[in-house]
Amino acid sequence: MSENMKTIFDIGLVPLVVLDDAADAVPFGRALAAGGIPVAEVTFRTEACLDIIRAMSEQVEGLIVGAGTVHTVQQAADAVAAGATFIVTPAFNPAVTEWCVKKHVDIIPGTVSPADIEAANGFGIEVCKFFPAAAYGGIQTLKALAGPFGHMKFLPTGGVNYDNMNEYLDLPNVAAVGGSFMTPSQMVKDKDWAGIEKACKNAVRHLFD
Ligand code: 3PG
Repeated sequence: MSENMKTIFDIGLVPLVVLDDAADAVPFGRALAAGGIPVAEVTFRTEACLDIIRAMSEQVEGLIVGAGTVHTVQQAADAVAAGATFIVTPAFNPAVTEWCVKKHVDIIPGTVSPADIEAANGFGIEVCKFFPAAAYGGIQTLKALAGPFGHMKFLPTGGVNYDNMNEYLDLPNVAAVGGSFMTPSQMVKDKDWAGIEKACKNAVRHLFD
């Protein structure tokens, strides 16, 4: 596993970035880092995604910037060219996974079933995203997967929040949890960077509850 991935899993939290205006990338990224979570999964859900990745990776000291909601090899390649150091896909995508593995780019592929996990395993992947976690059985499913896939770890996202994050993180096969609960959309809309910093600090504090 790369040092980058080890750092992310040591932190244990992967905040989601859904942002329309690239001009907000730097204050947003600084809020994450100041909040104690120097990781950003910048999603391809807005046009500004690549500009945000570029701005965050060039201008926010110490922030590990990755791309999320990656559906195509082109998006993965563009994200890496813009400065992303890891790729997250919402579903298991063999083409994107193969490209990343060949290019030695860290990838956390989306999975939701034993079939997906087996396919990811075939590419040598050690950590898969588990999305949408809550809708696919959450904790119970992860516990069931621990038997046949005892060598795999997961990044559950989708319905993870302050109330259940530690229940997920206490599972031995959970490497980290991700999601938007650390970056509430209303705060992003309001450009409430102090609020985002506080939301991140709350999540970090919760780790020790
Ligand atoms: C993701 O892409 O990981 C999910 O959209 C996160 O889901 P959440 O908004 O429920 O955290």
